[in-house]
Amino acid sequence: MDFEGILQQIATDMQAETERGTAAGYIPELASVDTNQFGMAVALADGRSFAVGDSHRRFSIQSVSKVFTLALALGRLGEDLWRRVGREPSGLPFNSILQLEHEHGIPRNPFINAGALVVTDAILAGNAPREVLGEILRFVRAAAGDDDIHIDDAVARSETEHGDRNMALSHFLAAHGNFENSPELTCGTYFHQCAIEMTPHQLAMAGRFLVGSPDLPSMISRDRVRRINALMLTCGHYDGSGDFAYRVGLPGKSGVGGGILVIVPGRASIAVWSPGLNRHGNSKLGTLAVERFAQATGWSVF
Ligand code: DON
Repeated sequence: MDFEGILQQIATDMQAETERGTAAGYIPELASVDTNQFGMAVALADGRSFAVGDSHRRFSIQSVSKVFTLALALGRLGEDLWRRVGREPSGLPFNSILQLEHEHGIPRNPFINAGALVVTDAILAGNAPREVLGEILRFVRAAAGDDDIHIDDAVARSETEHGDRNMALSHFLAAHGNFENSPELTCGTYFHQCAIEMTPHQLAMAGRFLVGSPDLPSMISRDRVRRINALMLTCGHYDGSGDFAYRVGLPGKSGVGGGILVIVPGRASIAVWSPGLNRHGNSKLGTLAVERFAQATGWSVF
């Protein structure tokens, strides 16, 4: 397959798009990111990798970090994690508090903010945030095979200063007894995990731990790979998950920095980045680009 040609064509098409979505406005540090940027990278199970556009420019991975913390939490707590968070799509925006009230403070899934806060709270478990962030970074760096991956403190600070909604979710979870640490501590850790910055190339490389190929080093069990992919497919794009599954047909996890990590089980890890978002808070051109890539390769889980 001519991966280089396919990526080149997609990048050319994306450059010509005029409807590029809008950058995340509620985190001021992200609001000013230029939406003309576009980068895409593919890491194949056979070791080859391909990249196009701004694939070596760092961006804020934001909610894509939730796949790494979920893997860590499952490693730490095993199936007990599911006592604190569910495995169903929410059908509501990523930062919604509505269902928590009716559902006894158990978030629908680990990818909406409420669920991700519970996951981070579970990993924190009385440890110092610095240690836990070190552990998250070690995991991401090992997955990517690259030590040059860091946290952007300005983005973390910017979100901390405007984090009322996540603080509200945390207090609500605490009120239901589903929080072990103070909302300040867990939110602080969560904001920093979201502020990890990576290039599309680094993210595609890091995503290889979810490909589940015997040719790649395995960081987690095959069973967990399968389950995390199932959650990405059903919940990875919040209330846009059904549309993403319909258009792309592959498990994916988005972030408001405009990044999307897409897994082709057994074959490849794909990362795409374009900062303009659609109304669900997922990258507009990123989604279009992986839709085109899936069409061109014929790759799908269906
Ligand atoms: O908690 C937040 O709102 C952000 N740090 C992350 C949200 C996010 O990336 C949603 N994804 N599309």
